Amino acid sequence: MKYDVRQLRLISNDRIADGIFDMRLEYGQDDLPVSCGQFAHVYVPGKTLRRPISVCDCSNGELRLVYQVKGEGTRIMSRMQPGGLADVLVPLGNGFDVQKGKKYCLIGGGIGVPPMLFTAKQCDSPLVITGFRDSSLVILQDDFKSAGAETALVTDNGTAGKKGFVTDVLRERIGEIDEVCACGPTPMLKAVADICREYGKPCQISLEERMACGIGACLVCAVKVRKNGEELMQHVCKNGPVFNAEEVVF
Ligand SMILES: Cc1cc2nc3c(=O)[nH]c(=O)nc-3n(C[C@H](O)[C@H](O)[C@H](O)COP(=O)(O)OP(=O)(O)OC[C@H]3O[C@@H](n4cnc5c(N)ncnc54)[C@H](O)[C@@H]3O)c2cc1C
Ligand code: FES
Repeated sequence: MKYDVRQLRLISNDRIADGIFDMRLEYGQDDLPVSCGQFAHVYVPGKTLRRPISVCDCSNGELRLVYQVKGEGTRIMSRMQPGGLADVLVPLGNGFDVQKGKKYCLIGGGIGVPPMLFTAKQCDSPLVITGFRDSSLVILQDDFKSAGAETALVTDNGTAGKKGFVTDVLRERIGEIDEVCACGPTPMLKAVADICREYGKPCQISLEERMACGIGACLVCAVKVRKNGEELMQHVCKNGPVFNAEEVVF
């Protein structure tokens, strides 16, 4: 795994929805290439452990991280000011394996939506299905459209898009799709993986686990996977965060 520890200049850090922020950092053209589904490990002043945040986009010399304020660490991040420096370990993990010419369905649930934007940019006209609890949390819809994606928006209570779940749309559209990539809460990922298995479609999922080092040196982020009929433990930070859904033991 090749990564850098970088001091990146903060371009902006704007609130884009209820408790959700869009951080843009200067990422020079000569910096390590970043692929979709990889993540950045952000140092938070005053905290020992870094915070893992997925790459939402990395283009035109900008690294973009979209994050939700959950606890103290992300609250401190939301107060970081443009012009200052952010200490970031990037790029980390193994991302989505996508190829041009295939019809992808990209699925994001809640704060699992941001990595699907950079992924959409690597695909040919993907179908992007995003789901949120309600309208106050909806993000990135225009960005997906600008990336050439067809979007389908659902909310649990119907306050934006259609009322329902991402899996309702997946079932309706799965016949047109070659492969599915998803990021979101574990119950959503499991439901998506079950539908893909039922219809014989390949599926890649991005897992979220609590992390410490972010580089495979501790055991904090271990998950159980099944390979060649054997169960073994792997690191979400180093072997993932993206796994073949068939291999994950939920
Ligand atoms: C690979 C990966 C990608 C992620 N991408 C995003 C993203 O794009 N946007 C976003 O908003 N969030 C993302 N998360 C979740 C984000 O890392 C946590 O919400 C954040 O670390 C919470 O920190 P906190 O200090 O605010 O919360 P606290 O709960 O106070 O955190 C305490 C400790 O637990 C860890 N922790 C808490 N929740 C999580 C979690 N869900 N995952 C991993 N560590 C956690 C923190 O890093 C910290 O060390 C991602 C997590 C992983 C593993
Ligand atoms: S966070 Fe240390 S091994 Fe993954």
